[in-house]
Amino acid sequence: YLRYSRMAEDLGLSEEEVMNNLNFTGTPIGEPIPVSMPKAPAEKWFGKMPPDLSLISRVRGSDWVYTYLKSFYLDPSRPLGWNNTLFPNASMPNPLWEMQGLQHAVHGKPDAPGADAPVIGLKLAQPGNVDPGQYDQTVRDITNFLEYAGEPAALKRQKLGVWVILFLAFLTFLVYLLKKEYWKDVH
Ligand code: HEM
Repeated sequence: YLRYSRMAEDLGLSEEEVMNNLNFTGTPIGEPIPVSMPKAPAEKWFGKMPPDLSLISRVRGSDWVYTYLKSFYLDPSRPLGWNNTLFPNASMPNPLWEMQGLQHAVHGKPDAPGADAPVIGLKLAQPGNVDPGQYDQTVRDITNFLEYAGEPAALKRQKLGVWVILFLAFLTFLVYLLKKEYWKDVH
C-alpha cells in the first residue's frame, strides 16, 4: 500500500533516484509498490505466500515485529531449518542470519512425560558479522520503516491533531458565550 512517490517525498529523494535505485518492478512512480515475488512459486517454496508487510506494524504492532526479527532459531525439524519463538512454526527463514548469527533454542523440562520440551530461551551459538547491539539497531530501523510504511502520514496527523483540539476548545468557548447570550433574559 506504500507508493513510490510517497516514499520519494518523505525520504527527500528525487523521482529519478527512486526509479533508478529503489524501483525494481518498472511500475510508474505514483503507483503502490507491487509485490515482486510470484505467488505460485512462493507457495511452493515456503508453503505459503509471504505476506504484504506494508500494514504489518498496524496489524501486529511494532513491538511484535521487532521481537519477531530477533526470535529466529535453528530447528532441523522445520522445512527451512528455522523456527521462531514468537511465531511458532513460521514458514519464513531468518533473512538476517548472517548479521545476527545462529541462535539455538534453550529447552526447559517437558510439561508432561512424552511431551515436547518447551523453548525457554535462545542463545547465540555462532556470532554474526555485526555485534548484537548493531543487530538490534538494524532490526529497530527495519521495524521503524515498517511502522512508517503502515501510515506514512502518522506524524502529520499527530501534529494536525493538536490544532484540531485547540480549534474545538475555542469553538466550545464561543458556543458557551452564545448560550449565555441566548439565555441571559431567562431567570
Ligand atoms: C527483513 C526482511 C523481512 C521482514 C522484515 C519480514 C517480516 C515478516 C513478518 C513480520 C511476517 C509475519 C507476518 C504475519 O504476521 O503473518 C513474515 C512472514 C513471512 N515471511 Fe517474512 N520478512 C522478511 C523477509 C522474508 C524473506 C526473505 C522471505 C522468504 C525468503 C520471507 C518469507 C515469509 C513467509 C513465507 C512468511 C509467512 C510465514 C507464516 O505465515 O508462516 N520473509 N515476514
